[in-house]
Amino acid sequence: MDTTKTTELRRTEIKDILKNPSVGDKVLVKGWVRAFRSNRFIALNDGSCFTNLQVVIDFEHFEEDLLRQINFHSCIAASGTLVESTGSGQLVEIMAEDIEIVGGSNPDEYPLQPKKQTMEFLRENAQFRMRTNTMSAVFRIRHGVAFAIHKFFNDKGYYYLHSPIITGSDAEGAGEMFRVTTFEPNKAPLSEDGSIDWKEDFFGKATNLTVSGQLQAEIAALALSKVYTFGPTFRAENSNTSRHLAEFWMIEPEVAFNDIHDNMDLAEAFIKYIIKYVLDNYPDDVEFLSKRLSDSEKNMKKELRRPMNLLKTLEFVLENDFERLTYTEAIELLKRSKAYKKGRFEFDVEWGIDLQAEHERWLVEKHFKKPVILVDYPKDIKAFYMRMNDDGKTVAAMDVLFPYIGEIIGGSQREERYDVLLSRIQEMGIHQEELQWYLDLRRFGGCPHAGFGLGFERIILFLTGMANIRDVIPFPRTPGNAAF
Ligand code: 4AD
Ligand code: MG
Repeated sequence: MDTTKTTELRRTEIKDILKNPSVGDKVLVKGWVRAFRSNRFIALNDGSCFTNLQVVIDFEHFEEDLLRQINFHSCIAASGTLVESTGSGQLVEIMAEDIEIVGGSNPDEYPLQPKKQTMEFLRENAQFRMRTNTMSAVFRIRHGVAFAIHKFFNDKGYYYLHSPIITGSDAEGAGEMFRVTTFEPNKAPLSEDGSIDWKEDFFGKATNLTVSGQLQAEIAALALSKVYTFGPTFRAENSNTSRHLAEFWMIEPEVAFNDIHDNMDLAEAFIKYIIKYVLDNYPDDVEFLSKRLSDSEKNMKKELRRPMNLLKTLEFVLENDFERLTYTEAIELLKRSKAYKKGRFEFDVEWGIDLQAEHERWLVEKHFKKPVILVDYPKDIKAFYMRMNDDGKTVAAMDVLFPYIGEIIGGSQREERYDVLLSRIQEMGIHQEELQWYLDLRRFGGCPHAGFGLGFERIILFLTGMANIRDVIPFPRTPGNAAF
């Protein structure tokens, strides 16, 4: 085979060819074979966009040995003339003059097959799963959302804060943390009372992986006014659900002088910006995922199917206001619901409970049929830093609830009053010394401020219509699994 021609040409990405097809030009493409039909048509994908480029070969011009190596997901370089396609499904195609096998793939041994494969199977073969239509669409969108998030905040004059990954504080007070230590198990030095002497450890104190960058973001907001974090967060909660990861990414804006209402406005504008950005920039990927979801629902009972397809759902959320109501109002609605009266909820509804997924889903999917922002939760089910309302029972907390996902954002106005914060910290049995620096932000130049955390993978779930959070992060970490 004459490879000089392929090396003379510079590679063009398929996205650029399709965006601006210069028919008659000689082009070189490189990518992975998605399909090879009739010994003649190669569907080639290089990941630059959803669409494959068809490479047409005249098999008489190629060695049989070469043709045999054009297999599912083998990597090839193909050069030839770009021509208008006579077949349906594509505008242009390449009449191949030269094919080079860059990386062959033996179909008898390759774990993936050119057919529908379960998500579980793809997860076990995550080293290859990004080559599938579904996964590559998901991960292109994931990138797009990350970019949109930085753009949204940058355009509004926010500063990106790199909050630490290793920390000595427990921001949420929930205690679901991964310990960071250099002590050998069973060989940790002990204090006189028999407990582990963390003073001897690497950092001279007990440390863990962060559960949230919020407390550090508050430091920055009280100097730079508008900041956000965007980083990995870790929770050792043993919840093996399709909505929880042990390692996930969170975006946490924190804004000086904002109250809870500004906070809700920001959250709604932020989510809508992201949705619009994805619809504008990834239409092919969204369309594919929308069709995929509809297809997967075809054999379901009608009442289990979503009322709108994915594309329509995204447009609907973009065009409609989120419903805003208090936790107390939500409890009243739930108690008046048919579902409650007929005993269809597994968990009881009573003022003071932490709403269960079934309650949130009823509010969002059955009752309002759109995203909901709940505010003013009972203080006993929320974190210590949330601002106490005048009723002395509720705090200025907000949760944004989404159809099919549940909670996507959690946030609050922060308690800026030193004495009130101190008594909350004492009430909850938190050691004051550990949080004195946080308290001091209220003693020296404090101000009202508010912020929230968006679960990155939760918004990706919503945007892609995927069913399991493990399929929207490249390498999921969940209880019992840290492969790859
Ligand atoms: O509601 P959370 O716990 O709020 C905080 O951490 C606050 N410090 C945020 C703030 O006010 N700055 O978490 C925020 C969001 C949730 O709404 C959810 O979307 C996501 O993070 N989240 C998870 N996502 C995946 N896996 C988990 N285990 C998650 N836990 C929370
Ligand atoms: Mg929460």
